[in-house]
Amino acid sequence: MPKVTYIQPDGVETTLDARDGDSVMETAVKNGVRGIVAECGGACACATCHVFVDDAFAAKVGEPGPLEDDMLDGAASDRQATSRLSCQIKMNDDLDGLIVRIAPEQV
Ligand code: FES
Repeated sequence: MPKVTYIQPDGVETTLDARDGDSVMETAVKNGVRGIVAECGGACACATCHVFVDDAFAAKVGEPGPLEDDMLDGAASDRQATSRLSCQIKMNDDLDGLIVRIAPEQV
C-alpha cells in the first residue's frame, strides 16, 4: 500500500497506508486526520480539502484540472504553486511516500 504523510500547520505529522485508488482526502477522513474538512465529499465543489504538495512530488502529482483550478482560486488559504484539492489526488504505488501539508484555513 502506498504511504502518504500529512503535515499539519503546527508541524505534527501523520503517515498512513492508503488504499490504492483512494484519494488523499478519503485516506485522511477515514483515519481522522484533522484539517481536511471535505464538505462536499470529494465532488471538487468546496475547496475544504486544500493541501500543498511537497515539491519533490509536485511533478508526479501533476497540475489541477480546470474545475479544480477554479476552486483553488476561492480556497480559504491562499493557493501556492503546489496547491491541490486532496480529493482529486488518487493514491497509487507511484505516489508512495507522498507528503502533503494541510492548508491552515479550510473554511
Ligand atoms: S472535498 Fe470538496 S473539493 Fe475536495
